[in-house]
Amino acid sequence: MCGIVGAIAQRPVTEILLEGLSRLEYRGYDSAGLAIINADQHLQRERAVGKVVALKNKLKSKPLIGLLGIAHTRWATHGKPAERNAHPHVSNNRIAVVHNGIIENYEVLREELKAEGYQFESDTDTEVIVHLIEKAESQGMNLLEAVMSIKTRLRGAYALGVISNDEPDHLIIARHGSPLVIGLGLGENFIGSDIQALLPVTNRFIYLENGDTAQISRYEIALYDVTGESVERDIVQSNASMGSCELGEYRHFMHKEIFEQPQAIQATLDGRLEADAFVNCISGTTANGQTAQQVLKEVDEIQIIACGTSYHAGLIARYWIESMTDVPCNVEVASEYRYRRQPPKKNLLVITLSQSGETADTLAALEKVKQTGCLATLSICNVPESSLTRESDFTLMTLAGAEIGVASTKAFTTQLVALQILLGLLMQAKQADQAKIEHLITGLKQLPLLVEQVLDRDTAIETMAEDFIDKNNALFLGRGEQYPVAMEGALKLKEISYIHAEAYPAGELKHGPLALVDNEMPIITVAPNTVLLEKLKSNLEEVRSRGGVLYIFADKAAKIAKQDNIHIIEMPAIPESIAAIVYSVPLQLLSYYTAVFKGTDVDKPRNLAKSVTVE
Ligand code: M6R
Repeated sequence: MCGIVGAIAQRPVTEILLEGLSRLEYRGYDSAGLAIINADQHLQRERAVGKVVALKNKLKSKPLIGLLGIAHTRWATHGKPAERNAHPHVSNNRIAVVHNGIIENYEVLREELKAEGYQFESDTDTEVIVHLIEKAESQGMNLLEAVMSIKTRLRGAYALGVISNDEPDHLIIARHGSPLVIGLGLGENFIGSDIQALLPVTNRFIYLENGDTAQISRYEIALYDVTGESVERDIVQSNASMGSCELGEYRHFMHKEIFEQPQAIQATLDGRLEADAFVNCISGTTANGQTAQQVLKEVDEIQIIACGTSYHAGLIARYWIESMTDVPCNVEVASEYRYRRQPPKKNLLVITLSQSGETADTLAALEKVKQTGCLATLSICNVPESSLTRESDFTLMTLAGAEIGVASTKAFTTQLVALQILLGLLMQAKQADQAKIEHLITGLKQLPLLVEQVLDRDTAIETMAEDFIDKNNALFLGRGEQYPVAMEGALKLKEISYIHAEAYPAGELKHGPLALVDNEMPIITVAPNTVLLEKLKSNLEEVRSRGGVLYIFADKAAKIAKQDNIHIIEMPAIPESIAAIVYSVPLQLLSYYTAVFKGTDVDKPRNLAKSVTVE
């Protein structure tokens, strides 16, 4: 992961770099650092363990002032979070590097450089880069030539920002695998891991292609492609807004984002539904000019690829797609898919799901699909102009707004909304039963209000969460499309409250997990009024008769009576077509309040990052 920001300007850049780092903190928050070239042409660096605020505090008492600088917020891969492992890394006190990615062959390079007399201060893979550059420079190359020359030595992924006190008028960058963007100003230019970092200073960007290197000066950008040839890249004017990073009345972004779901869902639906039809809102074409409508007519198989919460959204969509159409749908986590051999399928539509659009495994899986061959690729994403949207034939945007909490909430429910819209468009293309299409539309139109009604149960869910404070384990159960809802509930609980949680299809209990059930194991389940409700109730009886304590979010029609070891929160009547979306919401709140009671860092849970840009 990690976030990179850099600037070359006619004004001091430290504040710009720190603001950029704060906006990139979702990529990692183990430690942060900054290096500048000062007016005396000296390289100066400051680093701090912990969040960006720790670096800001250090810089208050010891300001660094310069017109050229680079900065970094880290998510540790090689070497624990410690000041000596924080970037920028420096060689010979004159060259500094920030890096996002992983250098796979760093051990060999480290040994080689050590043998040549280079001393290593850190345990990182990155430090080899800065010493390799220093070595190339000391052999007579300028900084650009040095960076270009060492790229052939690096295996793995990198986005690099490099400065040298010998060249105070240039910032050198390079990209292979990890994202990097140039922000264009007037007499000043910037770099960032994404545009969010740079929105306070510009809305004009150049996205680097894989293999690109660039020399950035105040008035000039010189770009070189993978072969070293000078190249021009398009300038993109972004409409992205800075987004609200204010908590307002909320204590945590996660709570705020849970409560923003009715508006986020409405925004994702706006203009996309008519009374009796879904409106095409998929942008893009295939390389041979096919539109989304043509592709949806032709498709005879769907493959969904994603990670984490987005993967769970894909699993739910499989139930929907296969119950409403004759198109088979597979779903796989990207980290597995990317390494599994796949036969090419002529009429396969590949859908990637991602909130950030920068998840390394998902991007690599998409790359693999493009090499293997398929009918078309479509990404469902929350970030316009992200790597995923730029690499896919088609894009269907979710309009959740910026999601800041590491635990994905509104991005998940809006992904599900986008998947229903896609399903509707697929059904129209396949000339499905009109009544079924209208039924989907009716459900979606009720969705924002129903989510609001569930949010009204906030206090009851907070009270329920008190029972979880001293628990170490939890089981989540669901049947049918509620099984992935349970998986998502378990993921939320473990990632922010650090309680070990597993999800099972309720019918699978008797095949093993029932052995775990005792009064110390809370069992959380969702029981909407669907065709599988009676089956689920039988499974819950199996748990209760063995002393298990049940926490159930149930439709009134479920008629499950409150008893000593059964805690129920009654849900509004919800159409089956949208039940998976609505029932995800109480599970988000349950995890949230459990984490608050446990006193964890809800928005930035330990060891995680919002955007997982390394393998
Ligand atoms: O940005 P993406 O949707 O591709 O991210 C995928 C996962 O890393 C993400 O959903 C992760 O599981 C969340 N932290 C879960 O809350």
